[in-house]
Amino acid sequence: MSFFDTIKPLIYKTDPEIAHDIVELIFKTVRRCPLFFNPLIEKNFVNDPMLNQKIWNLEFKNPIGVAAGFDKNATMIPAWPVLGFGWGEIGAVTPKPQPGNEKPRSWRHIKYEAIQNAYGFNNEGVEVIKKRLEKIYPFVLPIGANIGKNKTTPEDKAIEDYKILVEKLKDVVDFFVINISSPNTPGLRDLLNAQFISTLFKELKNKTDKPILIKFSPDMEDEDIINLANLSVLHGADGIIVTNTTVNYDLIDTPIKKGGISGKPLAQRSYEVLRLIAGEVFGKVPIISVGGIDSAEEAYKRIKAGASLLQIYTAIIYKGPGIVKEINEGLIKFLKKDGFSHISEAIGVEVPKKIEHKA
Ligand code: FNR
Repeated sequence: MSFFDTIKPLIYKTDPEIAHDIVELIFKTVRRCPLFFNPLIEKNFVNDPMLNQKIWNLEFKNPIGVAAGFDKNATMIPAWPVLGFGWGEIGAVTPKPQPGNEKPRSWRHIKYEAIQNAYGFNNEGVEVIKKRLEKIYPFVLPIGANIGKNKTTPEDKAIEDYKILVEKLKDVVDFFVINISSPNTPGLRDLLNAQFISTLFKELKNKTDKPILIKFSPDMEDEDIINLANLSVLHGADGIIVTNTTVNYDLIDTPIKKGGISGKPLAQRSYEVLRLIAGEVFGKVPIISVGGIDSAEEAYKRIKAGASLLQIYTAIIYKGPGIVKEINEGLIKFLKKDGFSHISEAIGVEVPKKIEHKA
């Protein structure tokens, strides 16, 4: 039994937000202590040539990244490699600080290995987060910023928020992720429309040369997902992340009727959306898969379905921090078993080839 398994019952007795705050406090306290960090990096960080990739001219030593929402205020970046992660996203960051929704706003569904959260982009705001990033950037691992609009910003002014965020953070992160897929900011998902996407990319591409990705919700109709993926790529998206949390409350029998569900129940839909997206844009831009990945098997399935990179959040809570190393080592085994010498050879092997019909 691992140390994590021993303390798991205690963690589950603690309110999820408090448990997360304790973890953040521990990492903040020991962040300047290489004596503590270095042996753990040595133990947990997988840096195998089979998994090394160069994407958008950035070095990804392994494909597993910290999903958005875990390090909202960029306070734990030095701990990412300690946990074994090869890259990560901070945020969601908004222009002004905001408290988020009322507490409680995070719940565990232990029997489903799921989390439900209705945080609502609580964060310290771009000025504070920028100062924190200035002290650490450039970092040994790629850092992305997940950017969102303030709750008080009306939808017709949302583009201004994204412009401010890119302008302020463009010298302290490696790439951006436009978040218009969180279920916890009223009206945010309404922004997933053609007019908004085309204007947004045009404006943001004028501000930075750094990659700009977009993150999709799993709750759109398949046809809308396909249209938006093509539209995003057409207007300059450098990558697509699928998916955010879901508001499909039928997935569990005791849902709280607010917020988004993550973890195991999301896995199937997240995989379906990945397949849909890959069927359209695979080979044009890199795709990142997130949602219910909790094993090397699931990770490998997403890679074969077209994902170049993966992210996890909820699995850290249910499987413990050792899961990142377990997935990376498992991936190497699967690649070898299938006769691949590098991850890039496996990415998208199962993407259905489009049949070109002659007129
Ligand atoms: C999230 N997620 C999220 N996503 C995002 O784009 N911006 C955010 O601020 C947050 N915040 C957030 C908080 C909490 C508590 C959770 C559990 C999740 C969604 C996250 O990045 C990811 O897309 C989903 O959680 C699905 O992945 P997992 O958790 O099933 O691995």
